[in-house]
Amino acid sequence: MSGKSSVRIGFIGVGIMGKQMASNLMKKGYRLTVYNRSKKPVEELHSLGADAVDSPMEVAKNSDVVIDMVTDAPDVEAVLLGEKGVLEGARPGLTVIDMSTNSPEIARSIFSKLGNKGVDFLDAPVTGGDKGAREGTLTIMVGGKREAFDRCRPVFEGVGKEIVYMGDSGSGQAMKLCNQTAVAIHTLATCESLLLASSAGLNLKDVLRVLTSGAANSWNLTNLGPKVVARDYEPGFKAAHLLKDLRYVIQLSEKNRIALPGSSTVYQLFNSIMAENDGERGTQILAKILEKLASREIK
Ligand SMILES: NC(=O)c1ccc[n+]([C@@H]2O[C@H](COP(=O)([O-])OP(=O)(O)OC[C@H]3O[C@@H](n4cnc5c(N)ncnc54)[C@H](OP(=O)(O)O)[C@@H]3O)[C@@H](O)[C@H]2O)c1
Repeated sequence: MSGKSSVRIGFIGVGIMGKQMASNLMKKGYRLTVYNRSKKPVEELHSLGADAVDSPMEVAKNSDVVIDMVTDAPDVEAVLLGEKGVLEGARPGLTVIDMSTNSPEIARSIFSKLGNKGVDFLDAPVTGGDKGAREGTLTIMVGGKREAFDRCRPVFEGVGKEIVYMGDSGSGQAMKLCNQTAVAIHTLATCESLLLASSAGLNLKDVLRVLTSGAANSWNLTNLGPKVVARDYEPGFKAAHLLKDLRYVIQLSEKNRIALPGSSTVYQLFNSIMAENDGERGTQILAKILEKLASREIK
């Protein structure tokens, strides 16, 4: 993909992750056309120089590469394949990149539907959280045709740092599900260790210093541990989204006949988060479920 600024990028879904990613691409000199269901983030990006349109179809008409960063598989299918979706505005030679998290099977199905119209499709989910999106340091795992991946590398470099080609269509999403298995268990580990420390009467600031500097450390401990202690449940990554990811993890484990006891436990605990109507909170809200089970606060 030569001459960065001559490549026109379309961006669909500018929430917590997408807005930062779109803005980083603009900082790299790309011309952006943006669409989102709610209009506020689009207006913000428009004020920074992005073109705003009213449908994914118009995004496709104005772009060489279309990125979507919506929520779940039905959303990806709606914006890519639905009424006034990307497919309706697509022409042969367009490349579409789904960077949200969903299932390998959905990726393969979209790959084939877009492929019938001469459109390349890459499944390219990300990890690194809202912090990685803001700082442009996301890790990106990509499935699809190698040639399309190579062509889009400069675009990926506009939002991420570690960019890994995983193989055929669907392998980016399969990789992401492996990632989410570890993320889920690390989230539980973070909350459990802080609950135990609190029950033992330890100073939680000192506890975090020890946990984050030794063998126990993880991205979750470093980034979410302080939020648990501060009782800050603002979302970087919404609890409902991790539950959605774990649903796909469990589907894949069933298909491949492997036992994933850790992921299954966290999946059930996240069902409780939904029962408390806390799905829009950050994943660190898991601490509150553990507090309820223990009948004590982390303090
Ligand atoms: N946050 C993280 O740390 C993180 C990290 C890695 C991967 N992810 C994945 O990245 C994806 C996006 O996450 P996020 O945290 O950015 O979520 P988010 O803040 O909820 O943003 C999702 C965006 O997509 C739009 N959208 C959703 N469904 C749509 C539809 N059917 N049609 C049109 N627009 C639609 C939403 O519009 P509205 O404003 O109208 O709701 C919203 O702006 C998810 O798949 C998530 O699992 C998130």
